Amino acid sequence: MTHHDRLLIIDFGSQVTQLIARRLRELRVYCEIHPYQKVTDAFLRDFAPKAVILSGGPASVFNDGAPMPPASVFTLGVPILGICYGQQVMMHILGGRVERGHGTAEFGRAYVTPAGGALDLLDGWFNADREQVWMSHGDHVSAIAPGFAVYGTSPNAPFAITADPARRFYAVQFHPEVHHTPKGAQLYANFIRLAGFKGDWTMGAYRAEAIAKIRAQVGDKKVICGLSGGVDSSVAAVLIHEAIGDNLTCVFVDHGLLRQGEADEVVTMFRDHYNIPLIHAQEADLFLGALDGVSDPEFKRKTIGRLFIDVFQREASQIEGAEFLAQGTLYPDVIESVSFSGGPSVTIKSHHNVGGLPEKMGLKLVEPLRELFKDEVRALGRELGLPASFIGRHPFPGPGLAIRCPGEITREKLAILRQADAVFIDQIRRHGLYDDIWQAFVAILPVRTVGVMGDGRTYDFACALRAVTSVDGMTADYYPFSHEFLGETATRIINEVPGINRVTYDITSKPPGTIEWE
Ligand code: XMP
Repeated sequence: MTHHDRLLIIDFGSQVTQLIARRLRELRVYCEIHPYQKVTDAFLRDFAPKAVILSGGPASVFNDGAPMPPASVFTLGVPILGICYGQQVMMHILGGRVERGHGTAEFGRAYVTPAGGALDLLDGWFNADREQVWMSHGDHVSAIAPGFAVYGTSPNAPFAITADPARRFYAVQFHPEVHHTPKGAQLYANFIRLAGFKGDWTMGAYRAEAIAKIRAQVGDKKVICGLSGGVDSSVAAVLIHEAIGDNLTCVFVDHGLLRQGEADEVVTMFRDHYNIPLIHAQEADLFLGALDGVSDPEFKRKTIGRLFIDVFQREASQIEGAEFLAQGTLYPDVIESVSFSGGPSVTIKSHHNVGGLPEKMGLKLVEPLRELFKDEVRALGRELGLPASFIGRHPFPGPGLAIRCPGEITREKLAILRQADAVFIDQIRRHGLYDDIWQAFVAILPVRTVGVMGDGRTYDFACALRAVTSVDGMTADYYPFSHEFLGETATRIINEVPGINRVTYDITSKPPGTIEWE
C-alpha cells in the first residue's frame, strides 16, 4: 500500500488505457488501472481515490449489460474525467443523452475549437483557435447532462469537451493519452493539478518505500531470487539486497544458452560488485544434453522451461529456511485487462517463466516491481546505481540462444552464433544505434551455403541479422539500417567469424513474423 495520493482509472477495455497510466506516472502521480467489473462500492471506499478517470472502450451504452461504473463514483466528491466511452457513460448515468453514431462516427485526427468560457481543465491548452486531437468513436453524446456546459466542439462532436465545473466532472470525446493528441499531456497535468495531487511519485521516494515494505513483509526470513541477467530480476535483486542484506540469495541458472561473456558479467556484477550471495548453477551439459537432436521449437521451449524449474528447485532447496521467492513482475503483467471476447487466445509460443514455482515450492512471493512500468524499473535501476549500459540492455528471452538456432542445436553452432552476435552488437554500438533499437541479435540458420574466400571454396552456415523497433514487444518493425551499415556488418561477420559465409537481413515485421525466430 502506497502512502501517496491515488488516482483510480476504471477500465472499460480501451486499447490505450495503459497510456493513461503512463501519462499520469510521467506527471509523478500514483495511479492504478482496474477493470470496471471489479470496481464496487466497497472497492471505491477502500481505494479512496483522490480523482477518477473513466477510460474509453469498445462497448456501446445501448447494449444489454453495457459496462458501467457504480453510481457511487459520482458521489465521492472527487474530480472525474471521462474519456470517449467514459464520457458517454457519464452522460448516460448523469442524465444526458447518447446517440448511435449513424453518419457521425469519427476516427482519427480532428480539430477542437473553444466554446463557452474558461475552464480550469483547459488552462493553456488551446493553441490559438483550435487544437488537434485524436478521435475514435462510433456513438456520440447528443445532449449533455444537467449542470454540464460545452467548452470545446469539433465538426463531428459538438460536445467534444464538456464539464460541470462545480462538481469537477469533466468529459472529453477524444483520447488525450495518445500521441496524436499533441497537447494531451497538458490536459492531464491540468486535471491532476485541479484535483490537488502533489506529484510526489519519484523514484527516490519509491525506493525508500519499497525497502520499508520488503522489510515489513519479509522480517528476518530468507528470500531466494532467480537472477536471469535481465533488467527486471537484477533491479529486484539489488533492491531486496538493500532491504534485507544477506538474507537474500540469488540463484543464477546458467543453461549454456547465454551470449558471449554474459554469465561472467552477471557473476562479476552481483557476487563481486554488489556482494550478493549468489549460486551459479552451471548446467550447460544438462540442458544441451536434453536438447540434443531436438529441432521442434515448442519442444525446445518446454524442455528448457522444465529443466530450469528442476535446477532452480534443487539449488533453492539448499538454502535453509527460505520462505520467500522474489520475482521481477511488472505492472503490465498485473493489470487485469477487460476481455470482451472471453475466448481463449491461441498459443503462439510457450513462454519460459517461473510462474508456477511458488506453489510448487511452498514459497510466498516478494514482487517489489509490481507497481512499475518497464521504464520506471530502469529509472529505479539508475537510482540504485546499476550501470547505465546494463540498464539499457535489450530484452533477452528466457530460452536464450536455443530459439535463435532453428533446427538442431549443437555446441559448434552456439559458438559461431555467439561470435556473430557479438560482432553485430558491436557494430550497432559503434554506430550509436543501440538505444534506438528494441532488440537486435543474430540467428544462425540450419543451412550451409557455398562461398568463395581467397582462392578457396567455403561451405559454411548462413545467418540472419534481426533488429526491430517496438514499444512493448507485441508489435515490431524491422530497423531501417543503411546499406553501408549492412554491408560493413556482413563483411565483418564473414571475416571475423569462422563458420559463417553468408549474411542476410530479416525485414519481417511483427505481425506477421515474431521477433525471435522460434
Ligand atoms: P516474439 O518472438 O514472441 O517475442 O515476438 C516477443 C518478446 O518476448 C521475448 N521472448 C521471451 N521472453 N521468455 C522470455 O522471457 C520467453 O520464452 C520468450 N520468448 C520470446 C522476445 O525476446 C521478445 O522481446
